Amino acid sequence: MMNFRQKIARETGISAEKVPASYQILGDVMLLKFGCSEVEKKKIADTILQLYPYVKTVCETKGVSGELRQPFVRKLAGNGTETVHKENGIFYKLDAAKLMFSKGNHLERQRLLGEVKKNEVVVDMFAGIGYFSLPIAKHVKKMYAIEKNPISFGYLEENISSNKLQNVEAMNADCRDVQMQGVADRIIMGYFPHTEKFLPFALKILKPHGIVHFHNAYREDELWKKPEEQLKVLGDFRLLSKRKVKSIAPRRWHAVMDVQVAN
Ligand SMILES: C[S@@+](CC[C@H](N)C(=O)[O-])C[C@H]1O[C@@H](n2cnc3c(N)ncnc32)[C@H](O)[C@@H]1O
Repeated sequence: MMNFRQKIARETGISAEKVPASYQILGDVMLLKFGCSEVEKKKIADTILQLYPYVKTVCETKGVSGELRQPFVRKLAGNGTETVHKENGIFYKLDAAKLMFSKGNHLERQRLLGEVKKNEVVVDMFAGIGYFSLPIAKHVKKMYAIEKNPISFGYLEENISSNKLQNVEAMNADCRDVQMQGVADRIIMGYFPHTEKFLPFALKILKPHGIVHFHNAYREDELWKKPEEQLKVLGDFRLLSKRKVKSIAPRRWHAVMDVQVAN
């Protein structure tokens, strides 16, 4: 059977090495990274629309940037970029041209579902459109979802109601400014880089013996000494687990450490 690349190459007459080898699908929007001319990109995009009926829009992506993790996305063919993406029974409405949705964090989302407990109060300090908050809310007592970007926040609110979640309180704020103290059994810090600068604020929100899921970006040679140093801001803590989530550049990792504070 022909793979995606071979199929597009045959259909367009463009040589296979110029056709993207992989893609990301968010709802009915396909996102691809290209290494070819504008004319070739357009031809590939139009061909995808013809060959894959479930794809309504094809976009070029060049990754995410900035504090609010906004993606560079440009529409090449098709309709709009607002779509509804489904994962693990949750519906996430988002605009693929304005917001990110990291498929690479899929396993991390699933893993957390196995960790949380029914009676917990959880705070998601970087909620986005609800990547972690929505699936986890189904398994805990209360979820506070904090999101700074008003565009993400709008979708977050919509997603809370479309998924019929009654126990999520969404806050359109910088997580450093929220007035919560000692409320969280568990905090999710699903953001990088420089997540360490938010640790003092997490500590304020956390209950004694609370758990923090600390995400950050590191060079290979910084693992795991540097994160352990950074986490000392929390005082005494117990390391529950640590892992690399995904590669974000050559010898650079998105990593997570789960820690429980002593008091
Ligand atoms: C990397 S995204 C979330 C990714 C998500 N955890 C996933 O699995 O795909 C981080 C989010 O944090 C938000 N953000 C950045 N700085 C923030 C802050 N200081 N307070 C609250 N939200 C913030 C961004 O707008 C963005 O929506």
